[in-house]
Amino acid sequence: MMLWLLLLQVWASCLWLGHSEVVNPFASCPQYFYENTPPNNALLPQNPAWICQRYNNSYYYATLYDINRRIPVYSAYIYQPGPGTRRDEWMVEPQLIRNNLPKEMETEKTLSKNYNITSQQIGQNQAVNADYKNLTGLNRGHLNPNSHHNSNSSKYATFTLTNIVPQNSNLNGGAWNDYEQNTMANESKGCISNTTYVIVGVVPGNTSIANGRVNVPSHIWSSACCRMTSNKTKAWAAIVENKAKNITLLTLGKLEDQLTNLYGKGKVSLFHSACPRT
Ligand SMILES: *[C@@H]1O[C@H](CO)[C@@H](O)[C@H](O)[C@H]1NC(C)=O
Ligand SMILES: *[C@@H]1O[C@H](CO)[C@@H](O)[C@H](O)[C@H]1NC(C)=O
Ligand SMILES: *[C@@H]1O[C@H](CO)[C@@H](O)[C@H](O)[C@H]1NC(C)=O
Ligand SMILES: *[C@@H]1O[C@H](CO)[C@@H](O)[C@H](O)[C@H]1NC(C)=O
Ligand SMILES: *[C@@H]1O[C@H](CO)[C@@H](O)[C@H](O)[C@H]1NC(C)=O
Ligand SMILES: *[C@@H]1O[C@H](CO)[C@@H](O)[C@H](O)[C@H]1NC(C)=O
Ligand SMILES: *[C@@H]1O[C@H](CO)[C@@H](O)[C@H](O)[C@H]1NC(C)=O
Ligand SMILES: *[C@@H]1O[C@H](CO)[C@@H](O)[C@H](O)[C@H]1NC(C)=O
Ligand SMILES: *[C@@H]1O[C@H](CO)[C@@H](O)[C@H](O)[C@H]1NC(C)=O
Repeated sequence: MMLWLLLLQVWASCLWLGHSEVVNPFASCPQYFYENTPPNNALLPQNPAWICQRYNNSYYYATLYDINRRIPVYSAYIYQPGPGTRRDEWMVEPQLIRNNLPKEMETEKTLSKNYNITSQQIGQNQAVNADYKNLTGLNRGHLNPNSHHNSNSSKYATFTLTNIVPQNSNLNGGAWNDYEQNTMANESKGCISNTTYVIVGVVPGNTSIANGRVNVPSHIWSSACCRMTSNKTKAWAAIVENKAKNITLLTLGKLEDQLTNLYGKGKVSLFHSACPRT
């Protein structure tokens, strides 16, 4: 009898938690969102994974991953450009293989060596290196770019395939790079250091690579919100088709409106209400 009561209580509290709006699915890394508030559910894919991106024993950013399409929906991070060395050794997320593996990104090589996992097992729920071979006109586009971080570890931590989409190579090396380097620096001028919260995401497209394994997004977007001196907040945003040369700069509110139409799953909200929409 006691046991049943206990079970009932546990079940009831689960229900209650399920209905609460304050539960953050990024439980171990809410700090990468302005006021600990991630985007609303209008961006959720059918088969989502909430990844707190961990490397070398520390968290660095957060990613909402679309398991069916094997691309991120978005990565959220704090803008801290600075020195450090990048590297081009790509990692994957062990937690997407099974949940008794480490909670830290690893290379495919290390995973197969240390845990006897085949590359087929690694690629079940996520993209692997082989998926990005032989591409023409597309290459690996970071959502959270290494240039927005200021140490070796924080830069390395962006080299995981869960932070990558197949991006038009000219866009990646051209206008998008210009946005990352120059527009971000210019827009964040009035921001208090370490308070620029960024969310970079994609709209899933109708084409794919690697025999249908990995979706090629139709659009890439970026949005940011920061605190300024005088305790004001500022926000800005951008969107571009994953084939175009020109990036559209727009208000946060206008980006949310466009994403609401493109995703078609209800009104999109990317940031806490303190961030200005106009
Ligand atoms: C590795 O896994 C395969 C099956 O996937 C198994 O046949 C083999 O014995 C395993 N090797 C080790 C060293 O555990
Ligand atoms: C890439 O091309 C090589 C050589 O043509 C081929 O062996 C390999 O299967 C291709 N990989 C993919 C993912 O298409
Ligand atoms: C960063 O990496 C570079 C190249 O591997 C190395 O020379 C440098 O000492 C590293 N910096 C720190 C702070 O570890
Ligand atoms: C990992 O962290 C340790 C201690 O925090 C640091 O000494 C080391 O340089 C880091 N490794 C890399 C590759 O940055
Ligand atoms: C820099 O940002 C300011 C304020 O948002 C904007 O008015 C200006 O056009 C930007 N300049 C460049 C070169 O992007
Ligand atoms: C911003 O954060 C970075 C990394 O955590 C740190 O190295 C730097 O000192 C911070 N800057 C300020 C002004 O707090
Ligand atoms: C993808 O297909 C859907 C359904 O046919 C269509 O509504 C949408 O506009 C297409 N997206 C792109 C980028 O072509
Ligand atoms: C500054 O803004 C933050 C976040 O909107 C708020 O929590 C805080 O109370 C404000 N501080 C002052 C002095 O107005
Ligand atoms: C893209 O921008 C360039 C230079 O700013 C301009 O000359 C060109 O007309 C623009 N193209 C489109 C399609 O808007």
